[in-house]
Amino acid sequence: MKNKFYVTTPLYYVNAEPHIGSIYTTVLADVLASYHRMKGEDVFFLTGTDEHGQKVQQAAEKNNISPQEHCDKYSKQFREIWKEIDLRNDDFICTTEKRHERIVKKILMDLYEKGEIYKGKYEGWYSIAEELFITQKEYEEGKYREVKKISEVNYYFKMSKYQEKLIKHIEENPDFIQPENRRNEVLGFLKQPLRDLCISRPKTRLSWGIELPFDKDYVTYVWFDALINYISAIKYSIDDENFQRYWPAVHLIGKDILTTHCVYWPTMLMAAGIELPKTIFAHGWWMSEGKKMSKSLGNFIDLDTVREYFENVGDNAFKYFLMKNGPLFGDSDFSKERFYRVYNSDLANDFGNMINRIFKLIDKYFDSKIPEKMNLGKNEKTLQNNSDILIEDIFSLLENFRIDEMLNKIISYLGSINKYLEDEEPWKIAKSDLDKTGTILYSALASLRVAAGLLYPVMSSKMNDFLTVLNNGDKAETLLKWSELKSGTKIGKIKALFPRFDMKKIS
Ligand code: MSP
Repeated sequence: MKNKFYVTTPLYYVNAEPHIGSIYTTVLADVLASYHRMKGEDVFFLTGTDEHGQKVQQAAEKNNISPQEHCDKYSKQFREIWKEIDLRNDDFICTTEKRHERIVKKILMDLYEKGEIYKGKYEGWYSIAEELFITQKEYEEGKYREVKKISEVNYYFKMSKYQEKLIKHIEENPDFIQPENRRNEVLGFLKQPLRDLCISRPKTRLSWGIELPFDKDYVTYVWFDALINYISAIKYSIDDENFQRYWPAVHLIGKDILTTHCVYWPTMLMAAGIELPKTIFAHGWWMSEGKKMSKSLGNFIDLDTVREYFENVGDNAFKYFLMKNGPLFGDSDFSKERFYRVYNSDLANDFGNMINRIFKLIDKYFDSKIPEKMNLGKNEKTLQNNSDILIEDIFSLLENFRIDEMLNKIISYLGSINKYLEDEEPWKIAKSDLDKTGTILYSALASLRVAAGLLYPVMSSKMNDFLTVLNNGDKAETLLKWSELKSGTKIGKIKALFPRFDMKKIS
């Protein structure tokens, strides 16, 4: 049986447009999915939107539209941007869809019948902005906005009873929460006694939610509802074969939603008797020009800003930068200057220039036909061996989510092709030894083709353009091997893939 890889992003709230943060996680999921497809695995990549809750209800009221109209309008923006930048999600789920609601209700009913949910009275602090009940200590720390004291009868999930079991699972499965700093954060959080989780909101206060199947006066707490998407999308309890085919998942999230994913979600699954996720990987945040992104500071990287980058150098270059410099382990800073500098050095110089150089020589001396490789010398064999090593390295780094390192390795391999050309000087040798020139150009191109294949998950349309002109019959999303480059085929014309960006244009 094929290995499987099920990757998810958080479901984005429909009270904001896509921005660099949501784009980052979704591109990361897409890239991981794509590398796993390249390994021949059975891949499922899920994203979507989180559509219930007070904020949506209020925003809709303010704009005089129905909550569903509001959701559809925002959800569409997410769908559109993912299409625009060629992401290949297998599904897009909205929490207001019937297929999701029905499974949320089923789980609620199961847990209620098993005695995992009880009715209780709550008196204490509630953050209206975050839609959360908070402790006295949290209230005193003042971290939450719009806090007021409320007294309410609600339903509770017996989360506290799973505390020990959860700690044990985290300790025994080092891959469960990654990276390690986040795992330690969760273990730290679990040192205090865990409370039961309030999973309902009275309809008198909030009507935009999934009704509790055992009490029509209440709707489900938005997080309890949203987390279930990860199993409702793959048809939990509806199509067991499909569910088993993909579950357990790898969840990609941002560091701010660690507790909901690493505490609420696993305990909900334990109560329902469902296997826990394989991995929850929590990345850091994008800062912008050295500060936390904010609309009022004017450094917020929203969709319009991102589209400006697309217009200047293309979305592939933007995805490349996100993946190479992103906040995988800590926070990262996005700066215009750095973005264009990396673009010029990695893509315009190393990659773009080299293609032009090789193509020009093949055009001039071999009538645009890929030359024969004659005797491979030591340097050619090194390039070939290194391409095999590179592939191995890439797949082993993939297991640890080291997309940044993977790209560094590919770029340094590109550097070694460049150095090979500098050392061999085919432009000089061509005047006296065409066989040798052909071998050099073949070797450089074969190496470049491997590198382009490995960059395909990150820059699919540009790499496709390159691989298409080679006329080698390559299917970009399969692993390309060095010696499979065919001699004798005529290569097409290629537009400059990564034209240099003029740094003077930065305002
Ligand atoms: N709806 C919940 C998730 C429910 S999952 C079942 C939610 N949505 S969100 O739209 O507010 O945030 C989605 C993700 O965006 C989070 O993972 C968050 O970390 C991420 N980011 C928001 N700003 C970010 C940056 N500046 N940088 C990187 N990611 C950031 O939470």
